[in-house]
Amino acid sequence: MIVFTHPREWKRLRSELFSDRASVGYVPTMGALHEGHQSLISRASEENDLVVVSIYVNPTQFNQASDLSAYPRDLGTDLEIAAAAGCEVVFAPTNESIYGEEMVSSDTDYGTLTSSLEGAERPGHFNGVVTIVRKLFNAVKPTQAYFGEKDFQQLAIIREMVRRESIDVNIVGCELVRDEDGLALSSRNARLSNEGKLTALFLSKTMREADEKDRTVPPQTLAKWAFDQLENHPGIEPEYVEIVDATTLEKLNEWGTEEARILLTAWVDGVRLIDNSAI
Ligand code: PAF
Repeated sequence: MIVFTHPREWKRLRSELFSDRASVGYVPTMGALHEGHQSLISRASEENDLVVVSIYVNPTQFNQASDLSAYPRDLGTDLEIAAAAGCEVVFAPTNESIYGEEMVSSDTDYGTLTSSLEGAERPGHFNGVVTIVRKLFNAVKPTQAYFGEKDFQQLAIIREMVRRESIDVNIVGCELVRDEDGLALSSRNARLSNEGKLTALFLSKTMREADEKDRTVPPQTLAKWAFDQLENHPGIEPEYVEIVDATTLEKLNEWGTEEARILLTAWVDGVRLIDNSAI
């Protein structure tokens, strides 16, 4: 396993160790790797000559200092998990090596894509995400980059950034991975108690039930129904439940031919969980 911390090291290593024509599959992460990340790395490994995983907890995308400091960090275990899934190279930048002197994010306004849902609840979050992903792409120069649909809005925004800035990378969206009970895999699940994990199963159950409802109910009425279900469930505090056009993320007012997605955020055990599914 090769681990590098500065973009300039990768420039050298890449030409020394690999052919310039080798395709690079890239999986950006904030560490605390789980099976969801493993599935991204395995897919990247099947579809490319080599795989680079980055592990960097990006301060500018956190809204609260407490959330940033509570974020799980264990580089040794992450390296083992990444290697087992087929990764040869890990980029583990420091704040200085990736941001330089000033750790600031630049403003990003992609209309509804950045202002709705997580953008409304977490001001500045996507400024931080777009800034760091742009820097990471610039450092790694991947052929293809793999993102999970767990962060559905993030994936849509990264696609938009690549489109607007004509970045030469193919963005591959990968299906959200759930545990056998239906809980969406997330690094934050490690902070849930056993009881909290059981409570959190109600999130995916509610989305499944919403999907099974008759389409005579308009999307926004269905979203309100799902929100009420969560709000009335002990131990769950929902922030939002929305049914949107899967491409533009605009709220859907009636069912049409466009792909629809249900997205939600709720607090369980003091942990903020996000989930989504096709509907
Ligand atoms: O999805 C994540 O883990 C992060 O938002 C990312 C894409 C690695 C940027 O910090």
